[in-house]
Amino acid sequence: MGDVRFDGRVAIVTGAGAGLGKTYALELAKRGAKVVVNDLGGARDGSGASSSAADQVVDEIKQAGGEAAPNYDSVATMEGGLNIVKTAVDNFGKVDILINNAGILRDKSILKMEESEWDLVMDVHLKGAFSVTQPAFKIMKENGYGRVVNTASGAGLYGNFGQINYSSAKCGVLGVMHSVHIEGAKYNIKANTIAPIAASRLTEDVMPPEIFAKLDPKFVTPLVMYLVSEENPDSDMIFNCASGWFSRTAVMCATGTIIGNGVDDISAEQVRDEWSKITSLDEAKALTGGVNESIGYLMPLMG
Ligand code: NAI
Repeated sequence: MGDVRFDGRVAIVTGAGAGLGKTYALELAKRGAKVVVNDLGGARDGSGASSSAADQVVDEIKQAGGEAAPNYDSVATMEGGLNIVKTAVDNFGKVDILINNAGILRDKSILKMEESEWDLVMDVHLKGAFSVTQPAFKIMKENGYGRVVNTASGAGLYGNFGQINYSSAKCGVLGVMHSVHIEGAKYNIKANTIAPIAASRLTEDVMPPEIFAKLDPKFVTPLVMYLVSEENPDSDMIFNCASGWFSRTAVMCATGTIIGNGVDDISAEQVRDEWSKITSLDEAKALTGGVNESIGYLMPLMG
């Protein structure tokens, strides 16, 4: 098998001015893609803006002989998302690959969380995934090809103290993935999600230095390159990735149990008595066929 290449492909990486996104942009360009390097260039909490973050990555790509164009819009508005996709079309004619990566933090415990902190984090992570995906999806559908990677987080999949806004937004991007997977399937559009752990300005003060030193973002990049490649056969999957650890994780559906016959009343006591079967994850399976697949489990009751 040959190298994973992106010759003739056009990619958008949001938040590509630093951290993980920068590694994706550089590697995509190195492997032949034309890359839109989007970055608002603000602070870790989302305040401020600057063109220098995106410009520096574009310069680095060009100096290495690659092709790239900068974009400084925020993903947090629909207008920003449209402009990001327009940058790809104006410069390179299309979009084949979208990596929704831009991110910020506004951490607070539940009772201290302000509405503005909830809204901003939702806007950047969740609406930000939709705002770029919608116009990109239109072009991918027309061209019959697309690869989308969304960025969740262990905080979104499993929870974390002090991150109710971030956890909720990061869990929400699974919905964006499912929809792109289901609505894009017949157009060869695949969507997957990563939950990375990497050394960046988002994590520098939450990890011991010896751990931080081993979490170079470059260890996440190869998985993302494969996911956005033509060779990737899979869609609607979620992956943990950090420092060379790659593992699939999933929202699972267990077989569970059936109480009653779909006609007679069911009591709370019957639920209590069957609790170990209801909570069991025996024979749990990841569903990639959407909600209809889960409805299949209750079919024995439908007669
Ligand atoms: P980073 O702070 O180094 O990079 C994020 C980039 O996004 C920055 O360059 C920033 O300017 C840009 N950005 C922020 N808001 C933007 C907006 N509205 N529009 C456009 N660009 C914007 O952080 P890192 O660690 O590389 O994070 C990348 C993604 O990975 C984020 O979505 C983050 O939440 C996620 N993530 C990172 C983890 C880690 O361990 N580093 C863990 C789990 C998830």
